[in-house]
Amino acid sequence: MLVVIIPDREKASSQAAKIVADQIRRKPDSVLGLPTGNTPLGMYSELIRMHREEGVDLSRVTTFNLDEYFGLKREHPQSFFRYTHENFLDHVNIKPENAHIPDGASKDFSKTCADYEAAIKNTGGIDLQILGIGRTGHIGFNEPTSSLASRTRLKTLSDETINDNSKISGDIPTVAITIGIGTILEARNILLLAFGEAKAEAVAKAIEGPISSSCSASALQMHPHVTFILDESAAAKLSHRGYYDRVVEQTLKLSPERLGHSND
Ligand code: PGA
Repeated sequence: MLVVIIPDREKASSQAAKIVADQIRRKPDSVLGLPTGNTPLGMYSELIRMHREEGVDLSRVTTFNLDEYFGLKREHPQSFFRYTHENFLDHVNIKPENAHIPDGASKDFSKTCADYEAAIKNTGGIDLQILGIGRTGHIGFNEPTSSLASRTRLKTLSDETINDNSKISGDIPTVAITIGIGTILEARNILLLAFGEAKAEAVAKAIEGPISSSCSASALQMHPHVTFILDESAAAKLSHRGYYDRVVEQTLKLSPERLGHSND
């Protein structure tokens, strides 16, 4: 586990974009797992800039969104379909047929969920899963007590998540389709972004707490290639800050590709 603490949120977002762009340069047909929410907005803007100004080519990339509100049609202003198109997909050259987002308006949600899992498998699996984290420690919409082996399914949202997400987009459905923790753990590499003091407790539990379904993100401790990118406030409750900084220094020397430096 690599814990990268970058005081400035803008620079942290650029670092995340650099890791994603590096993944795409190394493997042009990469499969990316995409998050929504406030946290990844800076990373998406920077990736769009890198696509326009630095020639980062996403024409062979495939994407799978983590989740979608249940009951919302694609065109609904609060759908993650709209969010992902407006903030990312409409501005880069990912082919529409390669961008997957669970269908929140599906009448047969069991089939939708099973088909989504199958589609991920058919592409050969996710190369880089990008995540935010909720105040509850959720990744995707895997709220506390989600099975650590869970797959794509319907999930009831917690009160904290309903409150937090309503602040961003008004009244939201209280149920969502989300890929599972088991699905996330099968990704080859995982990048989790967290900014702001509201996330500090969840981040500390995820990185330093026991592995427990009370904090879904703690399951990432079982994954061999996870990078956390945090700003200073999200890192405030970590106990081993100095150690994490030393690990990052060593990684820059020995495995710079972990931080998006393979072409430097
Ligand atoms: P946020 O949400 O980026 O809007 O804080 C993160 C999440 O719920 O995973």
